Amino acid sequence: MRANAPIGILDSGVGGYTVARVLQKLLPHEDIIYYGDGGNAPYGNRTADDIVHIVGQILDFMAEQGVKAVGLACNTSSALIDRFADKYDFPIFSIVQAGADEVLRRGMRQVGVLATMLTTQTGSYPRLIQQADPNVDVFSQGSVNLAALVESGRASEEEIVAELQASLGQIAAAQPQLDTLVLGCTHYPIVRDIIARTYPQFTNIIDPAMGQVENMRACLAANSALNPGGGKLQIYTSGDCGKFEAMAEQLGLKLTGPAVYKRVAQPL
Ligand code: DGL
Repeated sequence: MRANAPIGILDSGVGGYTVARVLQKLLPHEDIIYYGDGGNAPYGNRTADDIVHIVGQILDFMAEQGVKAVGLACNTSSALIDRFADKYDFPIFSIVQAGADEVLRRGMRQVGVLATMLTTQTGSYPRLIQQADPNVDVFSQGSVNLAALVESGRASEEEIVAELQASLGQIAAAQPQLDTLVLGCTHYPIVRDIIARTYPQFTNIIDPAMGQVENMRACLAANSALNPGGGKLQIYTSGDCGKFEAMAEQLGLKLTGPAVYKRVAQPL
């Protein structure tokens, strides 16, 4: 692992900025290569085979860039990590694992997970949490449109609330004892305040981003691979470069010079 190699961050769109901004804050000397697959988002309504195919191309690109590690910011891809992680010689960090670990670390017992449809179908959050502690109750709920609404950057609060009512509203009503909510999609922390206002029953809201970055930091430190002198951010997207640049600034990322490049991954 070369200390001055970049770290890759991968997401279906702008959602992974919620991880990249934590990375920039905690490890400001790391070079970051961010890939946001805006041209193929939302991932959550695609098939598992399609996601594995697309993510494989992006990870091959990361390998060409010589990354020392990849943070799979996308929960939907992380839910399928066992299908591709061992093909690469750099470590790939799952955000679903980080979210499950955070639930267990905090000792939460009544847990809701809001995620994309595909992440929910894989059952990955309940499996990882309950493998470690079968006494934790976990109820997952998929949202069809929330990631796309956030990705658009143009959705009104009413539209967000309506989508929350159609998704999260179901488990909130059926399971009033739930007090913890995992934001199981990187796009959701962007509307965290709306979620908290709409469903105050969730007094503990878990964003797995911090845990995922901590996992990367621990691995790099253990391998003496923390970068002493970088700090560059390069953004690649299959989507609209102008939008990716504007939203990076809006979401609190530090842009470092000419930063956004077009690069396309092909779906099946
Ligand atoms: N942001 C991704 C996630 O964390 C996927 C959202 C989507 O594109 O459906 O799951």
